[in-house]
Amino acid sequence: MKEKVFIFVALPYANGVLHLGHIAGAYLPYDAFRRFMILRDFEVISTSGSDEHGTPITIRAMQEGLEPEKVASKFHKINREVFEKMNIEFSSYIETSSEIHKQVVKDFILRLIEKGYVYEGTMVQPFCPHDNMFLPDRYVTGKCPKCGYENARGDQCEHCGSTLEPSELISPVCVLDGFTPEFRETKHLFFRLSEFQDRLKKYIEERVYWKDNVLKYSRNFISQGLKDRPITRDLSWGVDVPFEGYENKKIYVWFEALIGYLTGVIVATGDIEAAKRLWKDPELKHYYFMGKDNIPFHSIIWPSMLLAHGEYTLPYFVAANEYLNFQGKKFSKSGGIGASMEEILATYDPEYVRFGLFYNLPEGHDADFSIEEFQNKINNELIDKFGNFINRALILSFKKGPISLDQVAQNNLDQEAEKRINSALVSFINNMNRVSIKEAFKDWLELARYSNIFITERKPWEACKRDDGNCRASIYTSMKIAFSLAVMGQVFLPVTSRKVLKWLGYDAPVPITENLLFPVAQVNGKPEKLFEKIVNKGINLKLSVAKIVNVEDHPNAEKLYLLDLEIGEEKRRIISGIKDSYTKEDLLGKKIIVVMNLKPAVIRGEKSNGMLLAAEDDAGVHLVLAPDDVDPGSQVNIGNLSIEDGELSIEAFRKMEIKTWNNGNSIIPVLNYEGDNIPLQAGGKSLRIDGEVKEGIRVK
Ligand code: MF3
Ligand code: ZN
Repeated sequence: MKEKVFIFVALPYANGVLHLGHIAGAYLPYDAFRRFMILRDFEVISTSGSDEHGTPITIRAMQEGLEPEKVASKFHKINREVFEKMNIEFSSYIETSSEIHKQVVKDFILRLIEKGYVYEGTMVQPFCPHDNMFLPDRYVTGKCPKCGYENARGDQCEHCGSTLEPSELISPVCVLDGFTPEFRETKHLFFRLSEFQDRLKKYIEERVYWKDNVLKYSRNFISQGLKDRPITRDLSWGVDVPFEGYENKKIYVWFEALIGYLTGVIVATGDIEAAKRLWKDPELKHYYFMGKDNIPFHSIIWPSMLLAHGEYTLPYFVAANEYLNFQGKKFSKSGGIGASMEEILATYDPEYVRFGLFYNLPEGHDADFSIEEFQNKINNELIDKFGNFINRALILSFKKGPISLDQVAQNNLDQEAEKRINSALVSFINNMNRVSIKEAFKDWLELARYSNIFITERKPWEACKRDDGNCRASIYTSMKIAFSLAVMGQVFLPVTSRKVLKWLGYDAPVPITENLLFPVAQVNGKPEKLFEKIVNKGINLKLSVAKIVNVEDHPNAEKLYLLDLEIGEEKRRIISGIKDSYTKEDLLGKKIIVVMNLKPAVIRGEKSNGMLLAAEDDAGVHLVLAPDDVDPGSQVNIGNLSIEDGELSIEAFRKMEIKTWNNGNSIIPVLNYEGDNIPLQAGGKSLRIDGEVKEGIRVK
């Protein structure tokens, strides 16, 4: 029987579409590890799901004017589709609002109550006198007492990762109405975390094989002393509290979501008793993947909960990645920074996205993702190195026909290649075993780079001018490299690797071993090109950020202004008919967007050298504005379209479909290009629209 293993990845909140940072931080490394363990002949039980309760969901619901369950099911569906497209798979993917999960949580908590690990106590909690209600942690924001970050939440500072209590925040405010909350006493259930101080300390000390970031964080957390934690909240959306007098409260989302791993195993095995048996097996290891802000919940709280429960084994490995930034800035859904997975997958092949993220995995330290670099890596590394080599090797082999190992006469270059293959494999396996996914990817990439050097030096086309063992050896070795790359590649690029292995005659996944057997080099069917290069289409529309430095009335036209603009070094004057909506004072200093390459026009005797972007609805004109921190003169980017040189006629400009679009968070200006809505961005952020407008209004 196969050895079993649990592989888990933090349940994402169903309050938004996952972005590249989430995928790179947790889900992709998880998926690589999962695939690896399967190919090492483990029976993998893997789970995740939508974390659907708590204030992340209720706050989003409030902003959208929807019921919490609507928000949760909407993003559950979208995020599942993202995983499906990315080929990130799970044995089960649960929803924490499901009946089964509620039942599992209830049983778990009843047991903790029974064992005395959960007790009733009082706590002082923020109360908003204006809303007349107790505020859950996330409904309070303020300055972080640890690092001074201004927008820390009542439960955690996103900036430094500290877990917080609302009362620790400096200058706290209620997110509902900005009022300063009072702190009043109220009843809650508490988890006796303090009880586990010594056992947890020992547990963490024994995890010498964990990564530095997780160990450091966990040791530090414990050294501050474990305190009992409230596990109920004043919310109406969540899992009911199985305790009298708590009809108006719910279980704290973190406490309940962690139990989701147990629910996930139950759903995956389809049998509660079998799942429990597995979890009690001391030989069965569990691995957890997450972003770094999740560390203490998985390395401290969850193990304590399992200890309190008393029957289950503790996590074997907690792997946490750092953050991925987007073109130098933090991903932010509300700030419009970075692309959501939906947007990225609308433009790029999922295998390209996987490659780009593995290349830039924030493992060990933060990493940065830029579209330009991503495209370069795809074209220059994935396609020019890996794709090109595979193509050459397979075509040579296809022409030559099957070559078996006993027909070849290897020279020193072949032997060198064999050594390279072997050391790449050994290192790759070691790194994967240690959950160093990025290092393992580098092993693979190094071999892909080397493959090109090998084939250039080995020159099979020359060796094959005479048909002998030397020719066969040159092709056989090339094919062995291709085979090895495809075998290791199964964990990173599953679709591509499958294609290659199939050409090589392997219909089933190929297990990963230190000594790969490759008895016969052969190609079934004519191999096709693996990839298409990314080519950026061009557009003749040049937009720049411009600051209004002077406003005058047009001498001959009542409704028009003359606007003097500063656009970096350059100064320009344009004429604009926005008098009904903006006074001169309104306009001074504003950073607007100007079409730079329009043919200059003369309007009632005055010259206009460009046009500004604005949307018009019944209420009047709304200027398109640059993000505050972007300098005048900055160019506006339109997705990855390259900006072509040349003058733009007014007719051609009118045909361009620039309009307002709801990206799920706010209404932003986009260019509709070949059916896709491409956000207009400056300094890596979406442009905004002055005032409130509806979706779908033309920007002129
Ligand atoms: N929803 C949390 C987050 O996105 C993670 C929860 S992990 C769980 O940060 F295990 F508790 F579910
Ligand atoms: Zn902080």
